[in-house]
This record gives sequence, C-alpha cells and structure tokens, in this order.
Amino acid sequence: MNGRLDQRLSDELDQFKSEGVYKHLNYLDSPQAPRVTMEGHGEVIILSSNNYLGLSNAPDVVQAGKDAIDRFGAGTASVRFICGTFTIHRDLERELADLVSTEASLTYPSCWNANEGLFSTLTGPDDIIISDQLNHASIIDAMRLAKSISKCDTTVYRHSDMDDLAAKLKAARPKRTRFVVTDGVFSMEGDVARLADILQLAREHDAAVVVDDSHGTGVLGNTGRGVAEHAGVLGEVDIITSTLGKAIGGAAGGFAAASAAVTDYLTQRARPQLFSNALPATVAGSALAAVRHLRSHPELVTTLHDNANYLREQLMARGFKPIEGATPIIPVILGATSKAIEMSRLLLDEGVFVTGFGFPVVPKGEARVRCQVSAAHTREDLDQALAAFARVGAKLRLI
Ligand SMILES: Cc1ncc(COP(=O)(O)O)c(C=O)c1O
Repeated sequence: MNGRLDQRLSDELDQFKSEGVYKHLNYLDSPQAPRVTMEGHGEVIILSSNNYLGLSNAPDVVQAGKDAIDRFGAGTASVRFICGTFTIHRDLERELADLVSTEASLTYPSCWNANEGLFSTLTGPDDIIISDQLNHASIIDAMRLAKSISKCDTTVYRHSDMDDLAAKLKAARPKRTRFVVTDGVFSMEGDVARLADILQLAREHDAAVVVDDSHGTGVLGNTGRGVAEHAGVLGEVDIITSTLGKAIGGAAGGFAAASAAVTDYLTQRARPQLFSNALPATVAGSALAAVRHLRSHPELVTTLHDNANYLREQLMARGFKPIEGATPIIPVILGATSKAIEMSRLLLDEGVFVTGFGFPVVPKGEARVRCQVSAAHTREDLDQALAAFARVGAKLRLI
C-alpha cells in the first residue's frame, strides 16, 4: 500500500469538494426507465439519462441479450482475429451500417474505443485532423493519441464557426488528407452540428468528414438515423462513429461506420481491434434488437421529439431559460458550479434526478443542470418534474 499516494489523492479530492466539482454517485436499484429506484431516495423521475428511446429496458431488447448469451456464451475469449468473430457481430455491423446509411461498419466495446482506433490508424505524418472546439473528450483524446502514434497534425476550429473551419481547411491545403471531425449533437449544449455546411466546405477542400453521432443516432431525423438524416445528407458523411450505450439499447459499445475500404483497413490495423476483445455477445444481441426495434417503431422518434419540445416550452413557461435547440438535451444555465450542484440536490429531494455540471466539464461561469428527455417519459412524468423545477426555482430565486 502506498500511503503517500492515497494521501495525495484524498487531499486532491477534498479540493474538488471545496470547488463543488466533486461528483456524488447515485446508486440505482432498478433498470433505467423514466422512474427508477434510487438508493436512499426511493422512486425518482430520471431527467438525466441517455436512454433516449427507452429501449434499455424494452422486453425485446432484454430478451435478445439473454438469447445471445445462451447461444454464444459470455464472450469471444480473445480478440476477434485470433479466436473468431461471432455471427451476431457481423449481423449487428450490417444493420448498423444500414441504419446510418454507410457501406459497412465495425463494432468496438465503446465509442471511446472507436474514436481512439480511428484517427491513430487512419492518419500519418502528412495528415491533419481539424476538430470543433466543443468536441467530446473521446475525440480530443483520440487526436492526442493519433498525434503521438502517427505524428499527424491537429488543429481546432471555433465551435460551429464555418469561417474559421474554412480558414483552417485552407491552411491545411498542403496536407495529404484533411479530416474534419465534429460531434453530431454537442452533449453539453444540446446543439446540432452544421453538417450540410461542413460537408460543403469539406468537398470544396477535398477533406474527409468524421461525425461522432453518439447523441444523434436513434435521436435525430424523422426516423432516428442521426444527424445526417436531420441535415438531409444521409449517405454523404465519410465516417460516422457512434455509441450503443445511449439510444441503441444503452448497454455499452460503439462503432465506426464508413466505406468498406475504411472498415477493412480498421479491421486489419486498428489497435483496439487487434489487441482487445469484441463486444460481449449479450451486448451485441441487445443492440441488434434495439436497431430492429427502432426500424420498426419510427413513431418512438416522433414521441421523443414531442417530449423534448414539451419540456423545453414548459420550462420557458415557468420562467427558466433553457438553451434553445432541437434535441432532447435541454440545459438550464445557472452560472456558478455551486448553484448547479445545489439545484440538482434540491431537485433530487423533490424526486427528480437531474445532474448538475460545472467546471471543468463546462466552462467556468456556465454551470448548468442538464435535462435529458426520453420517448418513454409520459406527460405525467414530465409535468411532475416541471412542478418540482418550479418549486426549486422559486426557492433558489431563479424564476
Ligand atoms: C459524443 C460522444 N462520443 C463518445 C462517447 C463515449 O461513448 P461510449 O460510452 O460508447 O464510450 C460519448 C459518451 O458520453 C459521447 O457523448
């Protein structure tokens, strides 16, 4: 036991606590659903889950996970090229590609993994990655990894600023391959990438576009095919990465979807593919059932959009000022981190679970509570949550 290390870490945690950025873990004793059982709090309404379509506890999705574990056992017991790949992985990869309208796809144990595997494999010293300022941490770390492994260049453009992107693309003209990477939906703001504009600029400058659509798959577009469907450019994005840990079953897992040339290359060369196990069979099974569920129930996406619009409008009607947008991520900015944490705590006392976010997850002075809506929420769930917001908002003199 290294007592000095323990001491240093607990001192640092005390510092986080005093800054209000310490994260208390809440333990759930029931599946993710609009109402969950939380230890110490009883039944609470969750407005803090990425279970956008309510599929993580859908009977067909759960049953498919059980069937897959019965059929394939717990897992591949090694990496895919050594021990063999289950047919359920291939089936899932075909249907994911079909969902997001690419030729092929390749699954990973997480989208974090998919992003890390992507850039470090596809780039070399003559290439550049041009990234939106607000991209997810997994993209930022994937770029750092690529920079150190492949010696590629990286640069950042101001959030959704097309003039800045154009300037960065122009400056990158001498490079062999220019990759532009953006989140489909920016998870802290809930805004949507300007994908049609990004694609147009990328075509003008002969760049490849990569979209991490983790918060868009199953969520955006009339049928949940993601930000490309929303922007009217389905089939035009070069590479899409996304998670299976949110709308698509919610267990875990991620994928990279692209041309067969890209996914074949990743299969041969991506280090997380070559040196790490595949998705557990049960996860592949439940994710596949979730994709099929989404394809046969597009009305779930309409319900999700209706619920998101309702919560946003009703928060405004009660005097809150949520960030405007068209996604089920509805942040209410409060300023100081301590205020966001306090609001989250008071809401939990009222039976509503909404997480407060402060620095360093969001910029200083822009702490917020972030509401997330699901297709599974009923109007009663949302109205009950809104009543709690009104009581807590009045108590904190926010409205
Ligand atoms: C945009 C984005 N990319 C990647 C991830 C990571 O996904 P996973 O949990 O599959 O690693 C997240 C998760 O929060 C995300 O929001």
